[in-house]
Amino acid sequence: MSDATQGMVGGGYYDAHSTFQADVAESASRLLERACAALSLPPGGTAMIADYGCAEGRNSMATISTALTLLAARGLTSLAVLHNDLPTNDWRGLADSLLSSSSYLRRFPQSRGLFAPCSFFERVTLPGSITLGVSGSAAHWLSRQPPDLDMPTSLYRSDAPASELPKILAQAASDWEAFLAARAEELQPGGVLLVLMLGSDASVDPIRISAASLLSLMNDCALQLIQAGDIPSDIYARYCFPVVPRTIAEASAPVEGALADRLELLHCGLTAVPSPYQQALESSGDIDRFARDYTAFTRAFSQSSLRQSLFRHGSGDPDVLADRFYTLLQERIRADPQACPFDDLTLAMLLRRRA
Ligand SMILES: C[S@@+](CC[C@H](N)C(=O)[O-])C[C@H]1O[C@@H](n2cnc3c(N)ncnc32)[C@H](O)[C@@H]1O
Repeated sequence: MSDATQGMVGGGYYDAHSTFQADVAESASRLLERACAALSLPPGGTAMIADYGCAEGRNSMATISTALTLLAARGLTSLAVLHNDLPTNDWRGLADSLLSSSSYLRRFPQSRGLFAPCSFFERVTLPGSITLGVSGSAAHWLSRQPPDLDMPTSLYRSDAPASELPKILAQAASDWEAFLAARAEELQPGGVLLVLMLGSDASVDPIRISAASLLSLMNDCALQLIQAGDIPSDIYARYCFPVVPRTIAEASAPVEGALADRLELLHCGLTAVPSPYQQALESSGDIDRFARDYTAFTRAFSQSSLRQSLFRHGSGDPDVLADRFYTLLQERIRADPQACPFDDLTLAMLLRRRA
């Protein structure tokens, strides 16, 4: 089992609070068109699409519907869709999404949805079986905590001390190579992969890192719980939030190195996707709603990791500690709504399996 995360908060919570991730997918609609145009059609008119890190499926349904439309236009009529996520994902929620009115099965009743409950750091299906792979807002997760961390007062790539940052980056680099090596095995020759993940801009000094302000605020809230005796400080020192936004150089490294003979880089670039919560605040001025929605968005993706690695080791009920943490976060956001924007830089990468 991954000690990084057990998945998003289920039961419809992630779906209800992932408008930002939907916007990330939307920001890459041109790249999805390019992916579907660039892939080699498999013989026989049948193909398999894979979605790596699909969660409960609301955003997955939208991306897959678009991909099916684009591939149908290229003459592919018989398509299976492989939904991949961790075994601990809310698979019941995904099954419900497949039966919902927004499911691609409504528009493409000949297609089929299949589940692959395993880590995307290994091969999730048969070699040479995927024509199109997509992955939205997922591949920045680590497979595990970097070993031997000692960062008692920081939480993330952006604020890690100089002695600890190499450990975080080494874990991110080996995970990313494992992710791409598995995809290189699964993709058919001429198959294409589109990955969207949090990015970092190394062309500016200091380096700009997605979500740094939010993580800095989360760090403050966690330190407050440590001071109150709710979380042991030695446990916190060994923990980093296991998401690492990559630079273009870091993302491209395996394709220019170990996997160069198997994968061809078609595109790698950074785009700032605006926060829908910030945009709503600007148009409505409703600070309470901003604090509530921004906190719920944060909780949906972060609670599992914090609960498993921190709150579980705390002084009381982990669910009560989680409530305390996110209440603190919401209060801090409400008190100073401009202090912690969700400063995104989405890294988009398009790759093709060499023939
Ligand atoms: C923020 S959600 C993105 C969901 C969806 N793709 C979207 O765009 O809304 C990230 C997903 O990646 C999944 N994930 C994280 N690590 C994973 C791993 N090692 N293998 C498979 N899925 C993983 C999480 O469980 C979660 O469902």
